[in-house]
Amino acid sequence: MRHIAVTGISGKVGDALRRFSPPRATLTGLVHKNVPETEGLTDVVQDFDCTDEGRVKDIVRKLAGKKVRTIINCAGETDLDGVEGQRYAAEPTALSAYQKNTRSAEILADACAEVSAEGTEILLLHLSTESVFGDNVHGEKYTEEDKLKVPRDRTGTVDYADTVTIPTFYGLTKVLGEQKVLERYREGSVIVRMHGVQGPLGGFFKRTCSELQIGKPFTRVDDMYVAHLTDATVAEAILAIEDAMHDPARRTRGIYHLSARNPLAPYDITLRFADRLGKPRSLITPIPLKELIEAGRKSGKLLAPRPHYTILDVAKFERDFYRLPTAEAAIDEYVDLYGHLFKM
Ligand SMILES: NC(=O)c1ccc[n+]([C@@H]2O[C@H](COP(=O)([O-])OP(=O)(O)OC[C@H]3O[C@@H](n4cnc5c(N)ncnc54)[C@H](OP(=O)(O)O)[C@@H]3O)[C@@H](O)[C@H]2O)c1
Repeated sequence: MRHIAVTGISGKVGDALRRFSPPRATLTGLVHKNVPETEGLTDVVQDFDCTDEGRVKDIVRKLAGKKVRTIINCAGETDLDGVEGQRYAAEPTALSAYQKNTRSAEILADACAEVSAEGTEILLLHLSTESVFGDNVHGEKYTEEDKLKVPRDRTGTVDYADTVTIPTFYGLTKVLGEQKVLERYREGSVIVRMHGVQGPLGGFFKRTCSELQIGKPFTRVDDMYVAHLTDATVAEAILAIEDAMHDPARRTRGIYHLSARNPLAPYDITLRFADRLGKPRSLITPIPLKELIEAGRKSGKLLAPRPHYTILDVAKFERDFYRLPTAEAAIDEYVDLYGHLFKM
């Protein structure tokens, strides 16, 4: 029986897993604060705070007792710009990004390892991001084999204020979270790094469709690259990996990258949306990335630095599973799935 528990069930990826999980799967949603849509969930566990060690351990033990075979960890702090200033605090590790992306990953991996060691196996599928990498040479992709770098000072202590090695604090806390998962429960976990999951709850595609719907001129960066997928594609791929983790012939472990096969600039994505939604291309003005960052600075908003090129290589996923969509196909799929939400 395929019984899965999902943390962060109210979030963008958790919600997609709920909507796109196959009817055969039994899904338990672990709810933090925001009560999600519950259609498609077999069970709901309230008051799941991923930073509360005692509570997490208790819940994981109960889930294993109910024959949950995998926890898919979608909980975390994903406000890239909102948390950027935390790296300069006196104690960055006490704040939300570290607590929800690093400490919570450690707690959950520990809890799964403990329960599994006692004889009831419960595996962990932990979600991560392309933001664990710094800017790459244009045209070169990061593979699962590429080593992650952690900035350290001369004493070996993590240098949270370093913006060179990993540009965003969000990315740094995700690097450290991945490391905790592998340290604590390498034998029972898979890490899936993604690059932009686009659904109806928020994200770049939704914002783009809303701006086109409003119909006022706006700008888009044309010298950085992204490789977004729809949430439906991502949910299907995550569930395929989850299945392979339990397949006796495969026992899949390790790291997978999940993104569109090719990158596109936000400007080019927006042009394609305009074409698909019947809006004039003249609404959109291309700008360089540095102009976006500068505009943020002038308006008093601290924008996290955006690298130009942190594209993931998805050859491993495609070799072990199936071919992923192109970035253009992902846009078309988004319009097919969610275009009706943006009445034009
Ligand atoms: N969405 C993307 O484009 C994308 C791209 C790459 C990687 N990822 C990764 O995918 C994962 C899920 O991302 P997402 O976009 O779905 O995130 P999201 O929409 O921001 O949702 C975050 C989820 O975490 C929950 N949460 C927050 N604090 C919590 C706590 N203390 N205890 C338990 N749960 C807590 C939230 O619940 P409440 O709302 O109830 O607080 C929410 O359900 C993250 O690891 C992220 O790094 C996402």
